Amino acid sequence: MENKKILVTGGAGYIGSHTLVELSQASYDFVVYDNLVNSSKVAINRVANIIGKDVVFEEGDIRDSKRLVEVFTKYDIDSVIHFAGLKAVGESVEKPLYYYDNNVNGTIKLLEIMKEFNCKKIVFSSSATVYGDPKEMPVTEDMQTGQGITNPYGRSKYMIEEILKDLFISDSSWKIAILRYFNPVGAHESGNIGEDPEGVPNNLMPFISQVAVGKLEKLKVFGGDYPTKDGTGVRDYIHVVDLAEAHVKAVEFLDKNNLDKPLIVNIGTGRGYSVLEMIKAFKKVNQVKVPYDIVNRRAGDVAKIYANPKKAKELLNWEAKRDIEQMCQSSWDWQSKNPRGYSIIDE
Ligand code: NAD
Ligand code: UD1
Repeated sequence: MENKKILVTGGAGYIGSHTLVELSQASYDFVVYDNLVNSSKVAINRVANIIGKDVVFEEGDIRDSKRLVEVFTKYDIDSVIHFAGLKAVGESVEKPLYYYDNNVNGTIKLLEIMKEFNCKKIVFSSSATVYGDPKEMPVTEDMQTGQGITNPYGRSKYMIEEILKDLFISDSSWKIAILRYFNPVGAHESGNIGEDPEGVPNNLMPFISQVAVGKLEKLKVFGGDYPTKDGTGVRDYIHVVDLAEAHVKAVEFLDKNNLDKPLIVNIGTGRGYSVLEMIKAFKKVNQVKVPYDIVNRRAGDVAKIYANPKKAKELLNWEAKRDIEQMCQSSWDWQSKNPRGYSIIDE
């Protein structure tokens, strides 16, 4: 057996790949487990290049118990950072069974094998979407969840949170951290890893970048009549490298502390920016054009949501350090260096 390792499910993806870099910097050993359904081996090669050493990669699906057993047998896995999941909101409405099977059933399979191997430490990627349409701002972790979620993707995150809480009630030797991400954007400073959405992006920042690079003609701003500062939707955008750092802090926290319940923390900046503010910042920082039209609201969107990030600061000693300029600049750097993302590149 080699040294203890962290299993990073979904480690080839957007947030996972950035987290690998931070884990490596903090001297953690890890194994990536990913079925590449929404990612590319090229991302793994790029991470290896950034960290200056090979990345241990095992291709596999979290729903495949046999394959998980092989991986848990091969490596001494001490904890799991669980990113693997599907995340396209619209697709989840069209294919709910696929989403629940992949995200919820997949997580159950993973937890079963972890239990079998007595590996009971997990950091789970949840989302601010579990709060639905919160009445008060900023959002704190003790506020109601599960109500007003508008799609199966969001409900899958809520269900997994509940499953993890029940698991802890049944066996308090589990150490569980649930990180509720707000809106991750940006890319690693190298410009060599970043978000590579398939087809037309659903999310704001990759859409802005693709308009700026000329791949898409115009941005549609969904709704100009929200009760917000300028009528457009307000979100808590967080730099993906800050988010990645939060995972290192969460792993450290689980290593050091015994918990009497799962740790649940918001991972956001505590600041809300409107769509128009994001466009303005992107144009200014990168000196590019971002043509847009204000159109109807998108179904399922809330007007405004941003985090109270105090709990993460108090318990994890983590806070977001990178500002909106760095988010916009790094997104553009990645996009302009890799206009086609990871595709057509043969590395
Ligand atoms: P991503 O799609 O880039 O990464 C997810 C990775 O999981 C991909 O590499 C994919 O191939 C892999 N995967 C999916 N299903 C799998 C399965 N059954 N078995 C093995 N691997 C599988 O997404 P991301 O943006 O990096 O998100 C990571 C996690 O964070 C996801 O769980 C997502 O729901 C959650 N999250 C993301 C956001 C966001 O805005 N990006 C916000 C909140 C929460
Ligand atoms: C969306 C998902 C959420 C998911 C998150 C990350 C919905 C309802 N919510 O969050 O579940 O966790 O992505 O994957 O889809 N906007 C535009 N034009 C665009 C795209 C977005 O104006 O082309 C606006 C939106 O209306 C919103 C803001 O930009 O006000 C951010 O949108 P987006 O990046 O999609 O994130 P969320 O909607 O917050």
